Amino acid sequence: MECNYSDIDQIIKKYNSDPKALIPILMNIQELIEEQYVSEEVASYVAKNLNISSSHVYEVVTFFSALHDQPKGKYLIQLCNSTVCSLKKSQKMKEILENILGIKIGETTSDKMFTLEYTTCFGACDISPAIRINKKVYGKLNEEKVIEIIEGLRRMENE
Ligand code: FES
Repeated sequence: MECNYSDIDQIIKKYNSDPKALIPILMNIQELIEEQYVSEEVASYVAKNLNISSSHVYEVVTFFSALHDQPKGKYLIQLCNSTVCSLKKSQKMKEILENILGIKIGETTSDKMFTLEYTTCFGACDISPAIRINKKVYGKLNEEKVIEIIEGLRRMENE
């Protein structure tokens, strides 16, 4: 994991080393890290600098769904499973994605290219069912569109 501790120091400083800001601090740090997760090593570093226990920081990382304790694939595919998307066949999209990626929801492909996970509504209900890949939203999905998106990313990686 590439991790720049001086950038982490700056984030902690931005929040005045306030333990009450633990979640935004961890979110900011996670965004810095290419594999989008907070390792045990980083959790300990944050704990030391906020003067709180490492186990508390790690508990927050494992409990809070927007934080990850395991490395993610290069493309984090988030499938909305909130009400509107569920009504508009997000379950079907899950099956298609699992099939094309060869993994189950919550898993990462062995080449570390894709991680598939559920997320709550991200405000794209008007174009549901929707997914978000590294913050880019794709909506009005159907089988062909999902396959086209994934194949497009694979092609891009192979160029
Ligand atoms: S319910 Fe899926 S984006 Fe809102």
